[in-house]
Amino acid sequence: MKPLILLDLHAQSEHQQSAPTLMFFGDPHGDLEPVIATVEYFRPEAIVLLGDIQARRPLHIELGPILKLTEVWFIHGNHDTDSVEDFDNLFGSQIADRNLHGRIVEIAGYKVAGLGGIFRSKIWDPRQPIEKAAFQSSDAMRRTMKREERWRDGISRKHRSSIFPADYLQLLRSGPADILVTHEAPSAHAHGWQVVDELAETLGVQLVIHGHHHESHDYLAEGMQSAAAPFRAFGVDMGSHLAWPLGPQEETGSGGPV
Ligand SMILES: [Fe+2]
Repeated sequence: MKPLILLDLHAQSEHQQSAPTLMFFGDPHGDLEPVIATVEYFRPEAIVLLGDIQARRPLHIELGPILKLTEVWFIHGNHDTDSVEDFDNLFGSQIADRNLHGRIVEIAGYKVAGLGGIFRSKIWDPRQPIEKAAFQSSDAMRRTMKREERWRDGISRKHRSSIFPADYLQLLRSGPADILVTHEAPSAHAHGWQVVDELAETLGVQLVIHGHHHESHDYLAEGMQSAAAPFRAFGVDMGSHLAWPLGPQEETGSGGPV
């Protein structure tokens, strides 16, 4: 595994060094300008959007200026199913196949696992055993619905961004991986989830990066995570990014995502 590094958009000295390999972006909520500007500046090999993208036009059009500069990947967030436009501009875009949800993809030399969406108790409250979930899969839910209750002949648009046990389990059994990206937070966050930790540990990842909460956290540096934890966790705020590998200063626990 390569060493860890954090970069700042305005850190000229860092820019003069080699380009970062991977960059992770907090929830854009329709504003992709910071993503475009950061990619044009740093030229990372690949980027991952951490959900709640809500592109105002199809994502491949919004990110058109950087599609030839970097490899674009994403997970979806709960707000990506808020409206038909939010949904179609992501899941109907020409780069919809770059969704990492429920799978592991080798990106820039790292095996990156993705868990998009959020936990909704109507589907699965992860504080309860997984076998007690109301629905194990979107197919199982769809089968209980009348034709007129369906959206585009499937489950409701809202629950297209709910985490189903089947998606979680499929990912859990797909390891190992190096990095886990999630929309929901791991348990180090006050509103995080133990099952995210369990997923990370089973996959054997070194790093978990999440969005959703609009907060930047370096959980280890902030004392919210033990140095003995099996993985290091970061939260990334909207409009912010985290670069991987991290720098030597972050190895000692100083600094945080920008
Ligand atoms: Fe969210």
